[in-house]
Amino acid sequence: MIPLNFEPVIHVFDELDSTNSKLKDLAKTGVPEGTLVVAKKQTKGRGRLGRSWHSPVGGLYISVLLYPLVPKRITDLPFLVGIAVTQTLQQALPKYLEVSLKWPNDVLVNQKKIAGILSEAFDHNEFYGAVVGVGINVNLEPAELAPFEKNLFSATSVQAITGETGTSLEDILTIFKVKLFNLYRVYQEKGFAPIQALWERNCKMIGKKIEIRNVEPKGETVVGNFWGLSERGGIVLEIPGKDKMEILSGELACCWF
Ligand code: BTN
Repeated sequence: MIPLNFEPVIHVFDELDSTNSKLKDLAKTGVPEGTLVVAKKQTKGRGRLGRSWHSPVGGLYISVLLYPLVPKRITDLPFLVGIAVTQTLQQALPKYLEVSLKWPNDVLVNQKKIAGILSEAFDHNEFYGAVVGVGINVNLEPAELAPFEKNLFSATSVQAITGETGTSLEDILTIFKVKLFNLYRVYQEKGFAPIQALWERNCKMIGKKIEIRNVEPKGETVVGNFWGLSERGGIVLEIPGKDKMEILSGELACCWF
């Protein structure tokens, strides 16, 4: 169990290929649950769906090591981390900005992607764990956002959206670690249900018409109403005239707000 007011060990690096890769290496040496790795820049930052994550100086690149009590629920963790990032930005950014979640784990500000999460499971000596990596675009100039534009939602950064140039990465990290371990304690005590409820509360697409591409098993595109988050972290989609369906993998491509 993570104790109240848990203070994680944080390893900070000027440059890494990927904070997720570094933390997986550290996990093999037996570092404890809750260990964080932070880098000022990454040379091979990884994103979801085999994409790269552009990681110049000015962004915040963090990975955290977690060993869930129920190994087969490892897929809950990126939802929990997504809420922690959302709560962090809600606290750190001006209140007129809307910080929200996009399925599965992206964080948006005013409907543009500001942060992404990549969770990678591993096992070491029969311990099943996850390294959950977070990339937040903080002090990135608008021109530096071009590499993100292959994503379906356009990208933003704290600097692009507020005009502020010197947002403190340390301050954001300090807020994030408190939010993260508070949520993790809730999760350890009560399971996924409160996380599911918080996730839904912070997702502004629920109740709206959405399009999801590459839906398994056939890779089709489906359009319907976003009913909610399933108990397994999938989208519950309501297609008029049909039963509700659960979508566990695919790419949310469009939302009609
Ligand atoms: C996404 O595609 O939206 C997920 C991006 C995740 C990027 C972060 S940056 C810190 C960590 N290390 C990596 O190599 N990737 C994640």
